[in-house]
Amino acid sequence: MAWDPSQYLAFGNERLQPALDLLGRIPLEAPHTVIDLGCGPGNVTKTLKGRWPGAALTGVDGSPEMLERARAEDPDIEWVEADMNDWRPEAQVDLIYSNAALHWLNNHDVLFPQLVKHLAPGGYLAVQMPRNWGAASHTSITEAVHDGPWRKMLEPLLRPAPSHAPSYYYDLLAPETNTLAIWETDYCQILDGENPVAEFVKGTQLKRFLDALDEPVRGEFESDYRARILAAYPKRTDGKTLFPFRRLFILAGV
Ligand SMILES: C[S@@+](CC[C@H](N)C(=O)[O-])C[C@H]1O[C@@H](n2cnc3c(N)ncnc32)[C@H](O)[C@@H]1O
Repeated sequence: MAWDPSQYLAFGNERLQPALDLLGRIPLEAPHTVIDLGCGPGNVTKTLKGRWPGAALTGVDGSPEMLERARAEDPDIEWVEADMNDWRPEAQVDLIYSNAALHWLNNHDVLFPQLVKHLAPGGYLAVQMPRNWGAASHTSITEAVHDGPWRKMLEPLLRPAPSHAPSYYYDLLAPETNTLAIWETDYCQILDGENPVAEFVKGTQLKRFLDALDEPVRGEFESDYRARILAAYPKRTDGKTLFPFRRLFILAGV
């Protein structure tokens, strides 16, 4: 799907916090080679550079729009346009870091064991993925898809939960790794603005549904979704909106 970096970065602080929490748990002092897999607009990649300025750092992403923004952020980092499904490093690396990206891929049963095979001895795979699929922000997409004249068009785009329970990743990675930590955090995001939860989701999961429709149906579908979200996430008396959001973290060392 085509990404809109500005819409994605509209909630930059909320999206950055889990990236920093993951980074804070990585025990590497001075890795030589670091990959940011699914690097997006590059702001998180720059944070990796800040922590390990001596490392050879590569950001990998499939979106030309995101990479254009990333190059503007820091032309000195190596930016590679590639599909993460096919990406392989030239040699083993010390760290594969991936924030909010691997849930866009299917077949995690093959993907995760493969990723740890790309690590040099002592290396780490560090991953954060949303796991908010049961919340109204995401179930409302399914409901809106099913309840309108666009159903036939949009139904094939629905995906079953794109990330799984911690036990799923434990069973995949425990046999392949020396150290393994898996945890979840429920962030209580406090957002400003009109219908900010709809705006937040529009930057990621909702976008490909909107992209599949032409006006005026596109606008009608978006209005339907926005009405559901307003009802599910009412404004507080001070004008703020609370958006609880669960995220899954995996830190695997070999
Ligand atoms: C939600 S953004 C996360 C960006 C960044 N890691 C961050 O934390 O801000 C997800 C990124 O994954 C990338 N992506 C999704 N599917 C991909 C694929 N199959 N191959 C390469 N990149 C992909 C998108 O282009 C997008 O930039």
